[in-house]
Order: sequence, then C-alpha cells, then structure tokens
Amino acid sequence: MCGIVGFIGSRPAVPVLMEGLRRLEYRGYDSAGVATLINGAIDRRRAVGKVSSLQELLDRQPLEGTIGIGHTRWATHGSPSELNAHPHANERVALVHNGIIENHQLLRAELEAKGHVFTSQTDSEVIAHLVSDLLDRQFSPQNAVAAALKRLEGVFAIVLVFAGRHDLVIGAKRGSPLAVGVGDGEMYLGSDALALAHLTDRIIYLEEGDWVEVSCQGCVVHDVNDQPVVRQMQHTAFSGALIGKGDYRHYMLKEICEQPMAIGETLSSLVDPVNAQVVLPELPFDLATVSRFTFCACGTAFLAAAVAKYWFEQLARQPVEIDIASEFRYREAPMPNGGVGVFVSQSGETIDTLSALRYVRTQGQPVLSIVNVPESAIARESDCVLPTLAGPEIGVASTKAFTTQLTVLACLALAVARTRKTTSPEELERLTLALISLPKLIDDTLLIDGAVRNVAASLAGSRDALYLGRGSLYPIAMEGALKLKELTYIHAEGYAAGEMKHGPIALIDEQMPVIVCAPVGPLFEKTAANVQEVLARGGRIILVSDRVGIEKIGRDAEAVIEVPPADNFIAPMVYSIPVQLLAYHTAVFKGTDVDQPRNLAKSVTVE
Ligand code: AGP
Repeated sequence: MCGIVGFIGSRPAVPVLMEGLRRLEYRGYDSAGVATLINGAIDRRRAVGKVSSLQELLDRQPLEGTIGIGHTRWATHGSPSELNAHPHANERVALVHNGIIENHQLLRAELEAKGHVFTSQTDSEVIAHLVSDLLDRQFSPQNAVAAALKRLEGVFAIVLVFAGRHDLVIGAKRGSPLAVGVGDGEMYLGSDALALAHLTDRIIYLEEGDWVEVSCQGCVVHDVNDQPVVRQMQHTAFSGALIGKGDYRHYMLKEICEQPMAIGETLSSLVDPVNAQVVLPELPFDLATVSRFTFCACGTAFLAAAVAKYWFEQLARQPVEIDIASEFRYREAPMPNGGVGVFVSQSGETIDTLSALRYVRTQGQPVLSIVNVPESAIARESDCVLPTLAGPEIGVASTKAFTTQLTVLACLALAVARTRKTTSPEELERLTLALISLPKLIDDTLLIDGAVRNVAASLAGSRDALYLGRGSLYPIAMEGALKLKELTYIHAEGYAAGEMKHGPIALIDEQMPVIVCAPVGPLFEKTAANVQEVLARGGRIILVSDRVGIEKIGRDAEAVIEVPPADNFIAPMVYSIPVQLLAYHTAVFKGTDVDQPRNLAKSVTVE
C-alpha cells in the first residue's frame, strides 16, 4: 500500500508530485507529504489525512524546488500522525517508502546506539537513518543506498533525495512496485504507471532487487548485485481520459457504468463470435489433463473464484479448490501432480496472492493468472496471463474488475468443458451466446439504478444486513455484503440461503434487512422457501429477482429490485449490478467516502 512519487527536472516539483499523489491516493490516504531541495537543503510538508489536506498546507506554506519526493500513506507501523507521515528526513537525506521493513527494530536499536534520534514510530524511518549513517562515513549516495539495501529485510519500494544533490534521485524496489517515467529533460518515479500517466507514457519497470539513479537526462538501473542493467522502456496505454472521473460524482459509479464496455472488451479477447466459441491463447499446459485447478485470491477477487468453482464443477466436471491467499500461503497445501494454480487479482500486486503464487511455483505447478494490470508482479511471475480488460479501476471498491474476472473465468470454464467433453457442443454454444449477450444485458440491468436508490434510502438506517444466495449466487451474496461493509460501515454477512437456518436465522427480527439474490432457475424454489422462513420471523425481505421471481414471491417483500431475466450461467454477473449499486447508493445516503472508504487501500501490498 502507500503511494510514492519522485520528480527531477527544471520546473517546480510540488505540482507534479501532488498530481501524482492524487492519482495514487487509492493506495492509502491516512497522511501525505512531500519533500524538496531548496538551495541544497531538504524541506518538507506533511499532513494527516488525504492529499487535499496536504494541498491546503502547501497553499499556506508553499514549497519550492525542482526535485522532490512525495508519499500518500496507508498506516502499518505507527498511527496516522504527522510525525509518522512520510517523507522521513534528516539533514542529509529524505525518503519515501512503501512496504514493510521486517528487521526495523534491530536496525533501529543499532542506529540509536550510534546516536541517531528517531522521531516517528514507523519502520520506514530506519532506512533514512541507515543511509545517512553511511553518508556520514563518506559513502556516496549511490554506495550508501546500495549498502543500505543489503541490510534491509522485507518488502519495499523507496525513493530518496539527498541534501546538496539537485542532480540525483534514487529509487529501489524489492517486493513493492516502482516504475520510472521518462520525460523530456525531466524524469519521474511512481508506484505505478497510472501515477505518471499525466506526465509520460514511457515507462521503465524495475525488476526485483533493482535500484536506479535518476537525473534530468535519464536513469541508470542496477540489479540486485549492483551491476548496471538495461530494463526495456515500454509505452503504456493509459491516458488522462481513461483515468478521469468524467461527469460522474464518484469513480465507483463511473466504473459500475463502464461494466458493459469492460465485459465486452474482455469477451472480445476470448470469444470468437462467428463460431460462438471460446478461443484461449496458447497455454503452457494441456487443459485436457489438468488434475485440479487451485484458485487463490483475496477479497472480491476470491469471490470471483468462488463463483468459478460452480462453473468448473458443473460444466467441466473439473475438480477445483478455492482458497483465500492469506490462508493458503502458510498452509503448505500439497499440490498434486498435474495441477494448475490460478491467481486472480485486479492490481496484480496483492502480496498474499503473490506469495501464494510463489508457493505454487515452488511446488512445480504451472501458474495462470487473471489480472487487470498487465505489468504487475503477479502477471510477470505467471506462466501465462488471461487479462481482464477493465481499464484502470480507481475506486477502492472493486466493481468492473470483479465482473470482468467473472467473464474470464466463465470463458475458461467453457474452454475446459469443451476440452473435457463434459458439456455438449450445443449447450456450449448456447452458453457462449449467453456470454456474448452480457454487455447488452448488463446495460439493461443498469436501468435499475433509480429503484435501487429508493431501497438504499431505507437500508441506510440499518445497523446490520444479511445477504442470501444459493449456488453461484452465494458468492454474489458475499460480495454484496463485502461491498456494503466496506462502503457504508454497516455490518453485513453473506450467507448460503440454505445455511441460514443453522445459525444466522437467530438474527432475524423486524430490524434486520435480508437481501435475497434469487434468479428464477434450478434453485429458485429452495431460496423461496428460505424467504418464507425469514418472513415468518418478521424479517425485512429485499428481493432481487427477475419479473417471474418477483411475481412468485415478491408480494410480502419490503422492497423488490427487478433485474432482467438471465440464463443461470451468467446470473452472477447480472446480480453483481444490484448489489454494487445498493452499496453505492447506501454509502451516498450515509455520506461516507465512496471512493476511499476508511482504513482501506486499493492495492494491499502488506500482509
Ligand atoms: C474489493 O472491493 C476490495 N476492495 C478488496 O477485497 C480487493 O478485491 C482485494 O484487496 C483484492 O485485490 P486485488 O484484486 O487487487 O488482488
């Protein structure tokens, strides 16, 4: 988490750094800060809260300089106070850091014994002291950083500036992302290419263990052994227009509305519409002989995998295991021969998912990833990637990334089913056509916005909420609950409708809203029975169903949200829309921060 930026050029640094920080704010927003060099001396401004608070401070107390670094923080070690805000600096060096230094206590004790005085509770500050200690011993900035890196344990990306050195910024990467942007007579560093998209489309991605010396003219990259290496410059497709909020009030709403396009783009990369057939790129394993897929992910991405389990088992008769990456990575799960690891992630940087991927690799299994950021660590460390073509997702709550993950997973399930001959060609064609109909269907589903807003008004006053679903709609119930929790801070649970009677039913009373995702299909009558169980106990039913479903069981519901009828196969994508909009509008009614909910960050690069 945390976003870091650096700039070196001949124009004022602060506006460049601040725009970069605004673009990186999705990574954390507990505090923000910038540091520049003015006549060779380090000066800095730091503020608790969002980048806008730092801007207010800078308006009152401007900071000059044409070289600088910036940081937006997601607190790990130490509360979100000004003292703990980055940049950490002393007279010699200023530093911004993303990641965790695991041996910080040891290093701190060592440096304190030498007389270094720490002013924060952060792990990051040790790096600044470590480097300045080496500078005191006449190391050059380059040698000091190279030597300091060898003492650090953990994951990090850092950017540093040095007193008296207007011509030098140094960055280093181990575990956390860092990109170098190439400009004309100026250079940039940023946690990702999005942060630099307003400045350049020429990006150099650092590899693990790299550190880089940056001047106005260019950069020299060194590998983990301090040897100069060439890292290819790439052109990114990001543009300002893609990243802007447009006419939307929130990024989240924009991204919800972009789903027809995002799903359409993703489908067109995987489906031959003429033959109504999924066409996958060449894979480094034979789909026909995979003994088991192990899906691993976190949060919403995990729930996409949870939906996929139903598809793979039912359509392809394929054994599938799904797991939360933070649990999987330490479980030392045996990986049977012939298995394939599948890792799902929007950011491609989630450290638990990345670590789980590395574990699977050590077990000799091929790794397939489904990611939205093609340059990410998870993408780079995979044997093959099926990208979600959702475009940049800025809102912390995942929306279009989720439905495009579902789209890719649905295509993969159909491809496996065809290879294993577990579903007839006619049925496969029908299901593929259902997928092809999705962009239009999602577009139609978005018309429920007004109806959902009315329901949200009544949900906003609730303390708790229960979401129910069956089959592939069970993970959608969990996703609805996750969205409501993260955006509105209302306590919510997603439950398998049939499991409710084994405990959660005790929670049902006249206060408890129960949101039921119940498309008409093979499990509808079962879910309808669970609705009756809730009603019999005075619970408030909010029924999300199609016209037929609402006619059948909507009469006693407190509210209904009618979505277009959808084939059971693609119902998870369609029912994602109402649960996203419900969380969104409830958050707007409550006045919570939709795009940057408290305590969260978009890219979770710490354990
Ligand atoms: C979704 O709304 C969440 N903010 C979160 O659960 C997210 O899906 C999770 O952190 C995984 O992120 P990733 O897809 O970037 O790996």
